[in-house]
Amino acid sequence: MFEKPDELREIFQKRLETIAALSDIEELRIEYLGKKGYVSSLMQELRSLSPEDKKAAGQRINEVKQFIEGTIADKLVELKAKEEQKLIDSAESYDESMPFSADIGSYHPITLVRREVEDIFTSMGFTVEDYSEITDDYNCFEALNIPPHHPARDMQDTYYLSSDQLLKTHTSAAQNTILRKYKDSLENGNPIRAIFPGRCFRNEKIDACHENTFFQMEGIMVDKDISISNLIYFMKTMLSEVFQKDVTVRLRPGFFPFVEPGFELDIQCLICGGEGCSSCKDSGWLELCPCGMIHPNVLTAAGIDPEKYTGFAFGLGMTRLAMMRYGIKDIRVFNSGDLKALSQFTDKSFVRPE
Ligand code: DAH
Repeated sequence: MFEKPDELREIFQKRLETIAALSDIEELRIEYLGKKGYVSSLMQELRSLSPEDKKAAGQRINEVKQFIEGTIADKLVELKAKEEQKLIDSAESYDESMPFSADIGSYHPITLVRREVEDIFTSMGFTVEDYSEITDDYNCFEALNIPPHHPARDMQDTYYLSSDQLLKTHTSAAQNTILRKYKDSLENGNPIRAIFPGRCFRNEKIDACHENTFFQMEGIMVDKDISISNLIYFMKTMLSEVFQKDVTVRLRPGFFPFVEPGFELDIQCLICGGEGCSSCKDSGWLELCPCGMIHPNVLTAAGIDPEKYTGFAFGLGMTRLAMMRYGIKDIRVFNSGDLKALSQFTDKSFVRPE
């Protein structure tokens, strides 16, 4: 009997135990599932088997392959959650025991972070756009190169309304509308630079780390000759301002149907400066913001010629950013209406009128 698939499964399980950081996952995936990885070299060994053995062995290799794919996907989710939690735990925490004073009004922490990021981008020539919370399948998915039945939809468990509309699952849903709004101006030589913050909704089971209602901030820039260097420059500038120190960023490949190439942007760990510590799981990096170069199909859907113009897009998780910024460990605080917790982020200049 051809034992190798079972052996591979065992070796993979041992190897999996050595994976502690998100940044190791890609290496693991290439090692096992890549073109020259263990699974494909096992497939090649099939050639040397007799036709009777080949079928059964091929089936077992496929089973092991599916097991490896599924396990890697689960590990990715697990490590993402862990890294996020570490980051939140390490931030300066707000004080749950502070007394509450009803005389002073306060801004919501999301509002504070949103305004801060808006100020940074407007100083770099970006406009701030508004977009509705209710939209439709076309804007939320199809215009973003996500046709019906595309597996990317599984990542966003959507609230559909009876009116053929839906609650937007990500701020990317506004891309088509904003690109259309400015496309004539683009033809007149003005680059499109826009950010659009907004509330998003997904059918998530609520716990300390998950909410069905959360905030994102999308950003796009489109012009002639926009490249990945522009994307890196804007992201680095914005993050350095938000965290009040010079941050080092890196890009890793990431898949989103509406960008090509797509990336996960990491920042060098702000706590250890990249040396490796418990907050970054010794990797020296923290995953922060997905982004990429806008897919030609997305530009075409908005009536912009992809041969002539290119652009970048990013989707910043504002809720997550606020958690990191203020050390808010439980995501439920944001929508709790609990003034005792929320009033700690008060802008003291606002005093409730008598
Ligand atoms: N819309 C994506 C989400 O919520 C995030 C995202 C990824 C936005 C890549 C982007 C991007 O603009 O380029 O899952």
